Amino acid sequence: MASYLKTTPTREGWFGDYGGAMLPPPLEPHFKEIREAYDRISKSAEFIRELRYIRKHFQGRPTPVSYLKNLSDLCGGAQIYAKREDLNHTGAHKLNHCMAEGLLARFMGKTKLMAETGAGQHGVALATAAAYFGMECEIHMGEIDIAKEAPNVTRMKLLGATVVPVSFGGRSLKEAVDSCFQSYISQADTALFAIGSVVGPHPFPMMVRNFQHVVGVEAREQFIEMTGELPDMVAACVGGGSNAMGMFSGFIDDDVALYGVEPLGTSSALGDHAATISFGEDGDIHGFRTLVLKDADGNPAPVHTVASGLDYPGVGPEHAHLHKTGRVSYTTADDKEALGAFFALSRHEGIIPALESAHAVAFAMREAKNHPGKSILINLSGRGDKDIDYVTQTFGFGETL
Ligand SMILES: Cc1ncc(COP(=O)(O)O)c(C=O)c1O
Repeated sequence: MASYLKTTPTREGWFGDYGGAMLPPPLEPHFKEIREAYDRISKSAEFIRELRYIRKHFQGRPTPVSYLKNLSDLCGGAQIYAKREDLNHTGAHKLNHCMAEGLLARFMGKTKLMAETGAGQHGVALATAAAYFGMECEIHMGEIDIAKEAPNVTRMKLLGATVVPVSFGGRSLKEAVDSCFQSYISQADTALFAIGSVVGPHPFPMMVRNFQHVVGVEAREQFIEMTGELPDMVAACVGGGSNAMGMFSGFIDDDVALYGVEPLGTSSALGDHAATISFGEDGDIHGFRTLVLKDADGNPAPVHTVASGLDYPGVGPEHAHLHKTGRVSYTTADDKEALGAFFALSRHEGIIPALESAHAVAFAMREAKNHPGKSILINLSGRGDKDIDYVTQTFGFGETL
């Protein structure tokens, strides 16, 4: 790995001022066990060999990089390319860390995988890993997301997972994390809480980033092979931030401009968006320090975005750090831009993107005009099959956008 990754985070899980592990005492020994197990297996030839085998023969990696010629011509200016995580088995980048977390759980002697999910992609990926490794699976999901992402709920059940509906508070991703932590406390001896992004207490932000690093490594090699040079700009959507960290980590030591795209929802008013880095302040959430969108009482604020997987009032601590150091620029795309990109990529490239990924597509479409002669590589983190019912029932086929 490159030098930045070797030195970041610290041994205690700090990315500058952000990260760490603020745990309730009953969970401390369990997180210590996870840290120690990860330290051991990440250096074990057997683990690396088995993970490589799974990535190639089960997930279908490497996923390709595609040149989006029609979209580039349509937008004018920069040439747009996409790393195709939509072609990873189960349809998103999430399986990259879920298979590794499943392998870690097996190594630790656990018999159950559990997690929260927003868009259902992490839930589907974890249920897939549980089926592969012959483990039980418990997924917590907000009622709003269950209604919006029905196909993924069906997939999780088919894969053998128990889906626990979360009916309190905003009934979305934050509450799903709360609910899963609650349930985990009583079963941490036998279960692994396989957190679904680069969030949570140490070691999850580091571990999930390292499991997603394959995306950036592949994309860098593939882009150079295709064009003979590095991309000028690399962009990814940011919810918790796992697909973005996977992608950015491949280019972090290069002279490449990196952009994280947050969801601006329907407006910049608190409650209408989930753009945590753009509008948040320092705070603690779910056992780690980061930027948080807060209400007037200092609690995590309600959030909104058309993309369930980005609907979180916190963000991975490494993103907060990379924002502070200026290595990554963070910007936004709103619901309307994301939906426009969703329809445009479908019609002009034959790729239906996940609504989350559509935020990165929207960024590329907007920025292409301002950067003639440059190249923009986006991470197309997932496919939009899960979103087609919700989108067409709510917004039609894009005629009025
Ligand atoms: C396709 C897709 N992309 C992106 C995300 C956001 O997660 P992260 O920011 O961790 O990549 C999700 C979350 O469910 C997703 O399903």
